[in-house]
Amino acid sequence: MIFYLSGTGNSKWAAQKIAQLTQETLYAISEFTTGDCNFALKADERIGFVFPVHGWRPPKIMRTFMQKLQLHAENLEQHFCYLLCTAGNDIGMTMVYAQKDLEKAGLHVHAMFSLLMPNTYVGLPFMDVDHEGVSQQKKQEATQDLLHYAQAIFDCKHGEMHLHLSKWPRINSYVLGGFFTKFLITDKPFHVNTQRCVKCGICSAVCPVDNIDGGFRKQPIWKHNQKCLTCFTCYHHCPKHAIGYGWATHRKGQYFFK
Ligand SMILES: Cc1cc2nc3c(=O)[nH]c(=O)nc-3n(C[C@H](O)[C@H](O)[C@H](O)COP(=O)(O)O)c2cc1C
Ligand code: SF4
Ligand code: SF4
Repeated sequence: MIFYLSGTGNSKWAAQKIAQLTQETLYAISEFTTGDCNFALKADERIGFVFPVHGWRPPKIMRTFMQKLQLHAENLEQHFCYLLCTAGNDIGMTMVYAQKDLEKAGLHVHAMFSLLMPNTYVGLPFMDVDHEGVSQQKKQEATQDLLHYAQAIFDCKHGEMHLHLSKWPRINSYVLGGFFTKFLITDKPFHVNTQRCVKCGICSAVCPVDNIDGGFRKQPIWKHNQKCLTCFTCYHHCPKHAIGYGWATHRKGQYFFK
């Protein structure tokens, strides 16, 4: 089984590819945010977690899911368990956070992979989506990398590690990531240009955590209920580019996986 989280589609694409090649079942973790997370494993079933990196850490919703996950199997330790994260350029200590969270669920991680994909974070003035050429190249290289990763996963290769790390992973995750998680994960700055908005309902339909009141013929309203992941999926999917995030998104591009 593969548990995945995705906003703009990069991680969903990666999870679907791995699922195809390893013949595993996919579960979107956003459907299991409330209540228990109980799953029964078939004999020899692999356990995969695929998710984007947010602020050099796993997204909070992914961490909560991993911490409360309850897997039922005759011998849990015999099941091959792997992590695959997608990121724009640097994953920091993301895997350490995920490993610790999974330990609480009694799971030991056997292999870890990261995949460079087009960047989706536009919430700070100096951050934008990648240029089309860079985006295409990342996707081409990711397609090749995924084939190798899928083979390693299919073969249940223990100890496999292909990770994209910068020079200062600890500072990024523990210091900058702490600030990011505390202050920058919020839906408060979202606003809509009412002149441009055609009330199509796409933004509310694509939100992975149902954080937007909206729909066809309705002006979207963000719920401000602490659920927002700041994944920018609503922003990137708006066909009229009518969604802004404070001033940070002024003249920024849009991207989602196609
Ligand atoms: C809130 C947020 C934070 C991000 N933080 C990082 C990061 O710390 N390092 C990085 O390389 N990419 C970062 N990114 C880029 C995403 O990890 C990357 O684009 C990912 O593939 C998006 O996956 P998705 O399309 O499945 O949501 C961030 C994106 C968002 C929206
Ligand atoms: S996706 Fe854009 S145009 Fe459609 S309802 Fe949302 S803000 Fe309006
Ligand atoms: S409101 Fe927008 S940024 Fe927040 S979780 Fe939903 S899609 Fe992502």
